[in-house]
Amino acid sequence: MTLTYQEKLLSKTIQFVKEQLEEAESGHDWWHIHRVHTTAVSMAQHINANKLVVELGALLHDIADSKFHDGNEELGPAIVRSFLLREHLDEETINEVVFIIENMAFKRSFHFDGAKSIEFKIVQDADRLDAIGAIGIARAFSYGGYKGRPFFDPEVLPETHNDGEHYKASKAPTINHFYEKLLLLKDQMNTEEGKKRALVRHEYMLGFLKQFDDEWKGIL
Ligand code: ADP
Ligand code: NI
Repeated sequence: MTLTYQEKLLSKTIQFVKEQLEEAESGHDWWHIHRVHTTAVSMAQHINANKLVVELGALLHDIADSKFHDGNEELGPAIVRSFLLREHLDEETINEVVFIIENMAFKRSFHFDGAKSIEFKIVQDADRLDAIGAIGIARAFSYGGYKGRPFFDPEVLPETHNDGEHYKASKAPTINHFYEKLLLLKDQMNTEEGKKRALVRHEYMLGFLKQFDDEWKGIL
């Protein structure tokens, strides 16, 4: 069987991403990329979009995440552009993929004003879905542990963040992250398919928080 250019490009991209993310902590590793890729592909079956752009955007969206590179938000897009140029992808498609990478971070969504492409909407929905539900819970505690944060402290109340810098600088317990970010995500989904999936995961988190609270109070 001979592989098409696109199939070869996708398998090279997977290889490249695995190498780049080798050092990532567990909430943010290859398997996160794998889940976002799978979810984005599955969502794209219900939506008219450029599948190659969706797949490349999903696979490359967390390359050189700025929070692991002193807040440098230029690095990811630059790495992606040079990788795709090396693979001789056409410039228009490269620009569409790089657009996704540039605009993916939650931090940016505080001041996002450009038009979103449908491919961007799908990848962003898939990434947000991976932050909620059962996997979202696992990732939050994994990230909190990595940052050395307590998982709960009843004396530290959740805060609302209206700017990206403040959100990234938070040292709050992990349970607060649900109220500060994770429970807000279902209302930020771009696509109908994303909204539907987010609702199921959202309900699951509410059940978890209720159970956590009852156990904390010692009433269950
Ligand atoms: P992504 O890059 O996948 O969009 P982030 O980099 O924002 O997501 O976060 C990676 C994971 O770590 C997510 O599951 C997110 O919920 C979690 N996370 C980020 N900040 C915190 C925090 N302050 N407390 C707990 N979990 C967090
Ligand atoms: Ni991500």
